[in-house]
Amino acid sequence: MTPAPGPALEARGLGKRFGGVVAVDGASLSVGRGEILGLIGPNGAGKSTLFDLLSGVQRADRGQVLLFGEDVTALPAHARARRGLTRTFQLARELDRLTVIENLVLAAPDQPGEALWRALVRPAAVARAERAAIARAGELLETVGLADKRHEPARALSGGQKKLLELARCLITGAPLILLDEVGAGVAPALLDHLTDTIARIRREHDRTLMVIEHNMGLIGRLCDRVVVMAGGKPIADGDFDAVCADPRVVESYLGLAA
Ligand SMILES: Nc1ncnc2c1ncn2[C@@H]1O[C@H](COP(=O)(O)OP(=O)(O)OP(=O)(O)O)[C@@H](O)[C@H]1O
Ligand SMILES: [Mg+2]
Repeated sequence: MTPAPGPALEARGLGKRFGGVVAVDGASLSVGRGEILGLIGPNGAGKSTLFDLLSGVQRADRGQVLLFGEDVTALPAHARARRGLTRTFQLARELDRLTVIENLVLAAPDQPGEALWRALVRPAAVARAERAAIARAGELLETVGLADKRHEPARALSGGQKKLLELARCLITGAPLILLDEVGAGVAPALLDHLTDTIARIRREHDRTLMVIEHNMGLIGRLCDRVVVMAGGKPIADGDFDAVCADPRVVESYLGLAA
């Protein structure tokens, strides 16, 4: 079946206020299918809040979210996840005491263990599904370069390795659209190139669409087809990396923060 045309994700006039703070102030943007879109901007610009509104973690005060053409504004996060959107958070949320492969298997969709009655009624089918999830998790650990860590507790991973595990968790959900919040934060320079290459390869080989929030401009410049700059809760520039970097409004938004 040919997928319907049109963007993977669209924000139309999204707004969100926390008390007196306007975090997102009428933000509109779209992410094309197969695209890697960078989202940059100074601290407090509203980038993570925009991710919350797109993924359904927070309800928007106004505006709409369209996911593969469908209006999902009224749907909670888990319903948007079922429709193909997965994300990471600015602070990693892996389960420290579980091993790397256990963290990954837990993120696999339709875990049979979730339905106790099924485990009791059809134990063979459950065991088969679990074997399949473990095999898939093993493959994805190869993809991100963590195969030798599969039995380590997640807490033993470095900052960069945790980011790789988060990527694998996004992949195992099968969601075609992945939102990554500060994917390069806390990653040692030696791992940053590997992380960047892995994201590029995920788009190519796994046919995913990605939206990436990141402060490291080297990573953004290498990875993204297009960059949206946010300041004061809304996009102020949208274009290729070199063009947005040369935009005086963008320079001013960063300098304004430093002043
Ligand atoms: N839950 C909340 N309650 C109150 N204010 C909030 C909340 N979440 C975000 N804010 C405020 O909204 C604004 C936007 O925050 P947000 O975290 O979206 O920015 P950001 O662009 O992701 O910044 P950073 O680059 O530092 O991660 C900030 O002023 C922040 O203090
Ligand atoms: Mg943020």
